[in-house]
Amino acid sequence: MFKVQELPYEMSALEPYVSEKTLSFHYGKHYPNYVNTLNKLIEGSEFENMSLEDIICATYNKPDKQAIFNNAGQVWNHEFLWKSMSPQGGIPKGKLLDKIVEQYGSFEEFRKQLRDAAVAQFGSGWAWVYEDNGTIKIMTTANGDTPIARGIKPILNIDVWEHAYYLDYQNRRVEHVEKFIDHLANWQELDD
Ligand SMILES: [Fe+2]
Repeated sequence: MFKVQELPYEMSALEPYVSEKTLSFHYGKHYPNYVNTLNKLIEGSEFENMSLEDIICATYNKPDKQAIFNNAGQVWNHEFLWKSMSPQGGIPKGKLLDKIVEQYGSFEEFRKQLRDAAVAQFGSGWAWVYEDNGTIKIMTTANGDTPIARGIKPILNIDVWEHAYYLDYQNRRVEHVEKFIDHLANWQELDD
């Protein structure tokens, strides 16, 4: 049985960029719903004792297992999201920033590409930053899809489902994404 993970900061810690109200629904209602639905779907099945990552990989591209994949993906994506945000977040530092500037010319250019990808994701989904053989890349996934299914380990994600921003920004996804990158983004360490 999967359990709801603790939020690594107070529900109001990301204000004013993500309100306490948004997080109380997002962390307090949407996320546990994915955890509970996944638990119900896997109860008594071959997936019952598997890790979340193994369930995601085993159900990827299997039409008859789509509901399990969607919910397992959303559990993983949200648990990564809680770590991808921090009250002390913002532009990356050190080796990651050096690599971004080297590849994209400036952080500003990278920020623009990440923002544009996140905004352009049609419907619900996620924007991701990851490292591929020393190269920093951007990708998006739809709905509950996750790079974990493709063996990709991300260093940041941004939730662009409306439930992540509608109470604070209504339809202004671009504003949600910009505030996220500029103030909340908590970049995971690069592998050496
Ligand atoms: Fe979400």
